[in-house]
Amino acid sequence: MIDGIHFMPVREKDKIFLGRGSPAEDLHLVSAEGSVLFDAQGRRYVDFVMGWCVGNLGWGHQDIREAIRRSKSPAYVHPSLFYEPWVELAELLATITPGELKKSFRATGGTEAIEIAMQIAMTATKRRKFISIEGSYHGNSIGAMSIGASEYRTQYANLLPGCHKIKPPLDAKAANRVEKLLKSRGIAAFIMEPIICNLAVTIPDTAFTTRVQELCREYGTLLIIDEVATGFGRTGKMFGAEHVNLDPDIMCLAKAITGGYAPMGATIVTDKVARAIEQEFSFYSTYGWHPLSVDAALANIRYLVTHKEELLRHVIEMSAYFEARLSEMKFRVPVTIRMKGLAIGVEVEEPGYAAKIQEKCLQAGLLFSVENDVLKLFPALTVEQKIAQEGLDILEACL
Ligand SMILES: Cc1ncc(COP(=O)(O)O)c(C=O)c1O
Repeated sequence: MIDGIHFMPVREKDKIFLGRGSPAEDLHLVSAEGSVLFDAQGRRYVDFVMGWCVGNLGWGHQDIREAIRRSKSPAYVHPSLFYEPWVELAELLATITPGELKKSFRATGGTEAIEIAMQIAMTATKRRKFISIEGSYHGNSIGAMSIGASEYRTQYANLLPGCHKIKPPLDAKAANRVEKLLKSRGIAAFIMEPIICNLAVTIPDTAFTTRVQELCREYGTLLIIDEVATGFGRTGKMFGAEHVNLDPDIMCLAKAITGGYAPMGATIVTDKVARAIEQEFSFYSTYGWHPLSVDAALANIRYLVTHKEELLRHVIEMSAYFEARLSEMKFRVPVTIRMKGLAIGVEVEEPGYAAKIQEKCLQAGLLFSVENDVLKLFPALTVEQKIAQEGLDILEACL
């Protein structure tokens, strides 16, 4: 025990004991309910981050909380055993994901789900190269960083050789550049988010996605769709791939899969891919699909499925409300608003301005995220009109 440490405020202890890349935001969270957070002084904040696409059903969701509280699941199940809830969850994922996706591999989060997808693609195609979108983000492992933005954490990124990045705009011309690369027949997989939340909520042209889909089939390259952020209703459809006509061979899921109650990731593949890697591929993750995570995921996804129509209708209505309000706001510089459902990006044309607005809003009781010069808003799918209004009023007042 270090003398005096017991009585230090959390902010000072945090500095000593927690490894962080950048300083914490000035909010000491103690509880959360719906779309609202409370800090240690009892101050209330409207949450337009929701853990960055994690708490899609709002914090403290009754069904998920009850499922965990009442859980009679074993403390732990070794990955090599049979366990019925694993099969139930995998079957549920196969039912709700688009196209022919069927077999799930168990992961602890998004990065691991991406790693599994990359390894599966390498095994299935006996190739080692990848194509991705320049500036995107797929996780923090060395593999995931190699297919992510070239400029991100450059001392570790780009270590995997043969990762090609396609620069937006993602249109027919960009699809031609993809074709040139695919012709080498050395590309294991093409990977992208269907709506690129990590790139200012970029929405690719269907001319791009449809062509890339065809080209991948033609040249024997697998299509990996990363739905870690877009999955489970975020964009107004259950999965973002449904907006842009994508029928993936592999899909990666995490974040909102448990609604934030427990860690989990999943990599789901088609029967065809599963057959191609039989006997050759195995993946072991000690905590992949921990029983409590599975309880949370089952309760969360069952709620989403049962209430899908009204939830997605609400997302579309709220999306229109956010769009109307944001487009009327008087930002001091020109802005570009990009949004699909409740994945919202507002790009401001002045370096540093987005961060200033963010800081002011936090003091005034509104939380959203900022990356580069983009304000990112990811409200809960269940956000009530009056909370949305409260948050947007704060934003407007802070401009
Ligand atoms: C699109 C996308 N893929 C993968 C990841 C990595 O997920 P995790 O943080 O669960 O490892 C993220 C995280 O933000 C993400 O947004």
